[in-house]
Amino acid sequence: MKVLISTDKLSKHYGKGGEIKAVDELDLEVYEGETFGLLGPNGAGKTTTVRLLNCIIKPTSGTATLNGDDILKDETEVKRVTGLLAESPGLYEKLSAYEFLEFMGALYDVPKDILPERIDNLLKLFGLHDRRDYLLEGYSRGMKQKILIAAALIHDPPILFLDEPTSMLDPRASLMVKDLIKKLANSAGKTIFICSHILPVVEELCDRIGIINQGRLVAVGTVDEIIAQTGTKTLEEAFITITGGVEEKELLAWREQKSANA
Ligand SMILES: Nc1ncnc2c1ncn2[C@@H]1O[C@H](COP(=O)(O)OP(=O)(O)OP(=O)(O)O)[C@@H](O)[C@H]1O
Ligand SMILES: [Mg+2]
Repeated sequence: MKVLISTDKLSKHYGKGGEIKAVDELDLEVYEGETFGLLGPNGAGKTTTVRLLNCIIKPTSGTATLNGDDILKDETEVKRVTGLLAESPGLYEKLSAYEFLEFMGALYDVPKDILPERIDNLLKLFGLHDRRDYLLEGYSRGMKQKILIAAALIHDPPILFLDEPTSMLDPRASLMVKDLIKKLANSAGKTIFICSHILPVVEELCDRIGIINQGRLVAVGTVDEIIAQTGTKTLEEAFITITGGVEEKELLAWREQKSANA
């Protein structure tokens, strides 16, 4: 299997003395065509990792390659092979869906002669073709999320990063977006990197997951492998065991006792 994303002791530290280790010597590999989930509690370093891998911020030390291109040396190439749905992206509400995608296409240097067809195909794939000329301000949150994912795909990158793609969505919109992600993974053959703390989303969509805690990768593998590694029964328990302190372990023990008594 071809490794498409590879990080080498990737680190990003914040604070005066670098005391906040947002990402700390991360070593991670993502294979071509897989859907990989980076899972971790709030503040674990997921968004920072994604921002590093998309050349939005520079590492304190270490590096990473995407499709063989180095984030420190080949920024232009890296940006060409990656698309990003950011955690809190901006959207131009006064543009129509079509205009927004046209704008994003220009930003990513998509050739003018192929852009209209690309936009049409994306709008059809996302089921938004009939709304293409309506202003985005009138779109629901789920529809906006779909347009933002379409925008991340406008330059047809092989790798798509999705930072919390469903966390703000209701169950119906979330289902819509999850189906779309599956379609992108299966029919379009994209390599997808999802950050989330919503366990069922990751369980449903991802071939492999990595668990990050305080900037460090603490587990990696399939859901079953991670459950086996931790000697737990569910991903939820594994997650709490791996990322939690003493209190969380007590909580688990209490829950187990409760179910044993029930
Ligand atoms: N620009 C910044 N300046 C200072 N500290 C930062 C900055 N960006 C991130 N951090 C810190 O780095 C750590 C990791 O943050 P990050 O946003 O990567 O976490 P996350 O896993 O995405 O969390 P969440 O699930 O809440 O989105 C946190 O302690 C955060 O406060
Ligand atoms: Mg985040």
